[in-house]
Amino acid sequence: MDSASPTTQSKTTDAASPRRETLTVTDNRTGKSYEIPITHDTIRANDLRQIKVQASDFGMMSYDPSFSNTASCKSRITFIDGDKGILRYRGYPIEELAEKSTYLETAYLLLYGELPNSTQLRDWHHHITHHTFIHESIKKFLDGFHYDAHPMGMLISTIAALSTFYPDAKHIFDPESRKKQTYRLVGKMPTLAAFAYRHTLGMPYVYPDNELTYTGNFLNMLFRTSETRYRPNPTLEHALDVLFILHADHEQNCSANTVRGVGSSHVDPFSATAAAVAALYGSLHGGANEEALRMLMEIGSVQKVPEFIKRVKAGETKLMGFGHRIYKNYDTRARIIKQVAYEVFELMGKNPLLEIALECERIALEDEYFVKRKLYPNVDFYTGLIYQSMGFPMTMFPVLFAIPRMSGWVAQWEEMLLDPEQKIARPRQIYLGHDTRPYVPIDQRK
Ligand code: ACO
Repeated sequence: MDSASPTTQSKTTDAASPRRETLTVTDNRTGKSYEIPITHDTIRANDLRQIKVQASDFGMMSYDPSFSNTASCKSRITFIDGDKGILRYRGYPIEELAEKSTYLETAYLLLYGELPNSTQLRDWHHHITHHTFIHESIKKFLDGFHYDAHPMGMLISTIAALSTFYPDAKHIFDPESRKKQTYRLVGKMPTLAAFAYRHTLGMPYVYPDNELTYTGNFLNMLFRTSETRYRPNPTLEHALDVLFILHADHEQNCSANTVRGVGSSHVDPFSATAAAVAALYGSLHGGANEEALRMLMEIGSVQKVPEFIKRVKAGETKLMGFGHRIYKNYDTRARIIKQVAYEVFELMGKNPLLEIALECERIALEDEYFVKRKLYPNVDFYTGLIYQSMGFPMTMFPVLFAIPRMSGWVAQWEEMLLDPEQKIARPRQIYLGHDTRPYVPIDQRK
C-alpha cells in the first residue's frame, strides 16, 4: 500500500496465470472494468476515484459512517483480533504484560516500541517522576470549578490549559520537544486527576511524593489526610497498576481516532490529547464504566436481573459494559479484570453489586439475543465494581481510564505525526441537501 500506483483497466482473468494481488471491479453503469491493487487485504479508497460515468464526474467514493470498515492509518502499536480475543501491545500479549510488567514500563513500550533495559527504565521513571508537579496557577484554575463539577470536565480543561503553560509544545516536529511533552503528559495526568478529585471534596491538594510508584503516588494524592507519609496498600497499588496496563491503548478507538484527527492539524499535544479525553468521556466509550455501575445500582437485586434483561431485549435500554465494535468474543481485558476484582474484594470486602453483575453476565451469555449479536462483557463491565470497592466515586471512573490511556494517545499522536502518508484528516461527504436556490427576503418567507 506504499505507492498509490495508478490502476489499469482489464476485462479478463486467466485462471492459469499466477495469483494477482488486485481487485477487479466492473461498473455496470458503463460496463468498464478496473483493476485495483490490493495490499494488506486493503484497497486504497483513492483508487476508486477513477471509476466515473463521465470524465467530468468527481469519481467513486466509499461510504463508511463510523469507519467500521475503513483503515485510517498504518500502525505498529497495538494489535487486536476481536474474533479470537487477542490484544497485544507492540507484539506482547496483554496477559503477559498484565502479569509481568508495570504500567510505566508498558507506557515506555507503547511510546518507544521496545521494552526498556534497566538504564532506560530508570531514566524513564526519573523523567516521569520529575514531571508530576503542576504549575500553581493550575490550582487557581481548578478552584474556579463548582464543587460538583464532573472531574472529566476538569481534566479536559486542565490538560488543554497546560498548552498555555508550555508554549514550546507547539514545536511538534522537534523530537526533544515531543519527548519533554510526553514526560509532562504522562507525569501530570495522575496529579491533575487527583487534584480534580480533591477539589470535589473541598479537601486540600496533596503534592506528589516522588519516592512512591506511579500508582502509589496517585493513591497518595487522592487519599492522604493527616499522615506525615502516605503508605499505599500494596494490593490496591498493584490492582491499579494492572488496570492501568489494560487501559493503556486499544488501537483506533474513538479517542485514538480523535487524537490523530485533531493532531493532524498540527496543534500541540496538550490540545490534541484534551480532545481525546473529551472523546473518552462519552457513555459509549470511557464513560461506560460509570454507566455500567449506575445500571447495576438501578437493577438493585439479583431477582430483578431477568426483568432488566427483558427491557434490554425490547430495546428500551442497553446492557452497559456489554458489546464492543471490535471484540466479537470475550474482551480479553474483562477476563483479567475479573481476576483483579477478586483480589480487591478479598481485601476490601465483596462489592454487593458483584452478584448482580455475575447474574447479568450469566443470563446474557446464554440468551439468544446476546449470543446472536456476539455481545460479551467489555473492559468496563467489572472495572466500576473494583473502583467502587477501592473508594472511588463513580464520576472518577472515566478519569481512571484516561490516566493510563495518555501513553497510548501520545504514541498514536506521534505515529500519525511522523507518518509521511498522513495529512490533515478531512473526510468526504455525500451531499444530499438543496441544490442552489436564490435568497428569500424575510417578508416573503412562509
Ligand atoms: N446492550 C444491548 N444491545 C446491544 C448492546 C448492549 N450493550 N450493544 C450492542 N447491542 C445491540 C445493538 O442494539 C444492535 O442490535 P440490532 O442489530 O438488533 O440493531 C447490535 O447489538 C449491534 O450493535 P451496534 O450498536 O451496531 O454495535 P457497535 O459496534 O456500533 O457498538 C458499542 C459498540 C458502542 C460498544 C455498543 O456495544 C454499546 O453501546 N455498548 C454499551 C456501551 C459500552 O459498554 N461501551 C464501552 C465500550 S468499550 C470502550 O470503549 C472502552
